Amino acid sequence: MAKVTINDQEFEVTDGTNVLEACIANGIKLEHFCYHRYLPVDGNCRTCMVEIDTPRGPMLTVGCNTKVSDGMVVHTESEKAVAAQKSALEFLLLDHPLDCPICDKAGECKLQDHYMDFGQYDHRRIVPRFFKEGKAQDTGEHIVLDNERCILCTRCMRFLDNIPGTSELGIINRGHEARISTFPGKPIQNDYSGNITDVCPVGALTLKEFRFKQRVWFLKKADSICTGCARGCSITIEHNRGKIWRFMPRENAALNRVWMCDRGRFAFQSLQENRLFAASVNKSACSVDTALKAAKAVLAQTDANRLAAIASPWSSVETSYQLKLLGQANTSAFVPEPDGAADDILMLAARYPNENGLKLLGITTDCSPILDRVQQGEIDTLVVVENNLAIQSEWKSALTKVKNLIVLSSTADETAEMASICLPVRNYAETDGSFVNATSLLQRALAAIEPENSKLPAPAGLLTVLASFAGREVNPDVNIGNQFAAWSAAVAELQTVQWHDIPPEGLQLSLAPIADAPFKNKKIDFNTIPCKSKNGAAV
Ligand code: SF4
Ligand code: SF4
Ligand code: FES
Repeated sequence: MAKVTINDQEFEVTDGTNVLEACIANGIKLEHFCYHRYLPVDGNCRTCMVEIDTPRGPMLTVGCNTKVSDGMVVHTESEKAVAAQKSALEFLLLDHPLDCPICDKAGECKLQDHYMDFGQYDHRRIVPRFFKEGKAQDTGEHIVLDNERCILCTRCMRFLDNIPGTSELGIINRGHEARISTFPGKPIQNDYSGNITDVCPVGALTLKEFRFKQRVWFLKKADSICTGCARGCSITIEHNRGKIWRFMPRENAALNRVWMCDRGRFAFQSLQENRLFAASVNKSACSVDTALKAAKAVLAQTDANRLAAIASPWSSVETSYQLKLLGQANTSAFVPEPDGAADDILMLAARYPNENGLKLLGITTDCSPILDRVQQGEIDTLVVVENNLAIQSEWKSALTKVKNLIVLSSTADETAEMASICLPVRNYAETDGSFVNATSLLQRALAAIEPENSKLPAPAGLLTVLASFAGREVNPDVNIGNQFAAWSAAVAELQTVQWHDIPPEGLQLSLAPIADAPFKNKKIDFNTIPCKSKNGAAV
């Protein structure tokens, strides 16, 4: 540790930390644009200027590219430091179009924020403004580049160089004509391209999928996870008026830092497509109550041994627990073969966000014994939850042999169409639930929106009702705290943990209770990410 004095106050700071990081860590505001805690330092914007005392007298330097040393004396608010910070900001704004009213970054733009925090000077320009060419250029499948707004901080370049390693962006020309550009005929094309719009501190890089859709100050946010693969990156679901407008990565240093892949980022679109809202009995639309009455009659008559349940690796632990209560020993999960592309950054080949949660509940992912019994006509009633079994031909033909096929689904998929009793349910963004990822990290996915039909039941709650129809002993109070307590009671390390205790970055479970987990050796080693950040740690 180094003892550093900042603005007359002494702090203990980890050796190797830079002055800007030391300020942020100790709650001292210091303007910065080009610095990003998960990217290599570049020190190009000169806005984090500080004054330090040296044996040769006071000296101005950039905070982000100056390491602390024992006994260092730093001033962030001295007359000279503030003048230097303001001058750098003034230069950045010199040719800026100031089109905040139509800029998608407005409301979360660092240039706006810093002007309000540190700038607040009157405009002094006496020569005509220089207009950089390139308004709203199509720069890739998802990206629009607006060069006028760019402050040349190179965060986007450093991301592309260091994370996907694809380096599609560079700076061309010199002086006031310098601008960011792709190479001719080479658009931004990589699986992580959306992240450059997050790291861009201004509105120069925007997402086609979000441009002009919503003003950010109208968006409400819910902590959740990405269900695009078994990593289960921490995300925020941003929504307004019952519609999800974007998924944003949420900082989780050990899991996904502040990144997410494009496949996960844009999954919010498919989540809202092809929704199932109407219940049906024998393919005739009816109310949920009518479908439940039909399910009650069926379940009350079915012999326990001729009832089976198929769980899903996309369902929350709470939903799978209630399904197991219903299907008991005849419960297993259908897990299609992974077909995702894996890389050494975030994406895992395994596509399922809660396969480890199923293992924690003792639900096997080998459903062939149930498939055999269905094919032999030994199963009268099959309950399928959030799983499109019919995508596999063997299951598709087997399902025709089941007398009563009860399907709980949020999408109008093939299996829902084959159901004799079909019950629409909320999807994972519409209800609270917990998920256990590939590395046994338990995370909460909070309900973000109310569905179009606010009476739509949550799958776990609906399964509690079905389990009671089948004569199982259930707790009718289906609030998430009770549901979590019900399944976690059997997990030694969760004995003292309540739903609300699970921290935003998740709770690491030991792999012991799920020793059969196919991911147990797949420790995600973040050192494999080619990030050259000097000290690596979040501040
Ligand atoms: S496009 Fe954005 S991130 Fe890239 S250099 Fe310009 S301001 Fe920085
Ligand atoms: S790596 Fe996996 S969990 Fe993370 S954002 Fe991509 S699909 Fe989602
Ligand atoms: S943040 Fe330090 S020079 Fe840009």
